[in-house]
Amino acid sequence: MPKIITLPGDGIGPEVTAAAVAVLREVAPDVITEEHAIGGGAFDTHGDPFPQRTRDALQDADAVLLGTVGGAHDSPWNRLPRHLRPESGLLALRKALGCYANLRPVRVQPGLEHLSPLKPELARGVDILIVRELLGGIYFDGDRRLEGHVAYNTMRYTTPEVERVAKVAFWAAEQRKGRVTSVDKANVLEVSELWRRDVQALRDREYRSIHLNHEYVDSVAMLIVANPSRYDVVVTENLFGDILSDLAAVIPGSLGLMPSASLGDGPGLFEPIHGSAPDIAGQGMANPAAAIQSAGMLLRHGLGRPDAANQVDRAVALALRQHPTRDLGGQADTQTFTQAVLRALETS
Ligand code: NAI
Ligand code: MG
Repeated sequence: MPKIITLPGDGIGPEVTAAAVAVLREVAPDVITEEHAIGGGAFDTHGDPFPQRTRDALQDADAVLLGTVGGAHDSPWNRLPRHLRPESGLLALRKALGCYANLRPVRVQPGLEHLSPLKPELARGVDILIVRELLGGIYFDGDRRLEGHVAYNTMRYTTPEVERVAKVAFWAAEQRKGRVTSVDKANVLEVSELWRRDVQALRDREYRSIHLNHEYVDSVAMLIVANPSRYDVVVTENLFGDILSDLAAVIPGSLGLMPSASLGDGPGLFEPIHGSAPDIAGQGMANPAAAIQSAGMLLRHGLGRPDAANQVDRAVALALRQHPTRDLGGQADTQTFTQAVLRALETS
């Protein structure tokens, strides 16, 4: 029986995670969930935002479902030394799991085109999966210095690092429209030359059914908002992916609609991208869609159950049309929305 560690965290984290767990129970009743502490609440109870008990629980987990961490800007947590703050718990968790591929679907739901800052005709039908390399590149390499008026950072990738994240992208594309756009700056950067060469070679060796093209990151930054429908799966290195994924995240029009997955060789981490929303925490009005969709990604990528994942995606789409939450301009509270998803699952 698959074992899922749930880490509800702070703010609206427990509210949206409870909704996601209810949905998981409905579509995967054999799954065992075990709740543990993380973030500010974990500091309050255990004196550590990533307690040893939470760390130990990851050992035999199949996947981790995370809520959100952090308090309001005036929270006493923010006056703690940096390594004890809620965000440190999250960073320590990500490090412990060693996930090298971050997946962010960017989907405009039918009927919610009006929420997008893009014109409805551009927003309609957008369905992109951004795959970002998460452990390498300029953010991580050791060779970094600031000396007076000169500073260095080094961007470095190896073939195995490129191949393992590209595999995730090709594998995801096989379940989608079979198209991958690899994003680089190969006209300027040697690292990008390596990236492009290795991604293409992997495609030619192992994924010949995939249509692969290569584009420059500056061009993608324009086209992903000017014509987002041209993309299916987008794979790129850490820095480019950081920027492109935040850029693309504005397309659906609400943070409450953005799930994510981080995959490595061990258990994957599944979490909504929004924060703990202290302004609405405890009021039962948070939109749980992103957390529920993250549970859908857990089924797809963490447990290899695409049918159950598709069921969840369809049920969320239906609930969003029938019972939009307040952040989407509707009236539904967390409970009403979650019940609508569960009803849609029962009848599907
Ligand atoms: P936030 O994402 O928590 O909130 C931004 C705005 O979006 C707020 O008005 C909030 O009410 C709304 N919102 C967010 N998620 C929503 C949802 N599911 N349903 C309805 N409305 C939603 O970002 P903010 O305010 O910058 O950060 C608040 C706290 O969250 C801080 O402590 C921050 O450090 C933390 N944070 C944690 C993250 C995580 O756990 N992965 C990510 C981002 C921020
Ligand atoms: Mg970022």
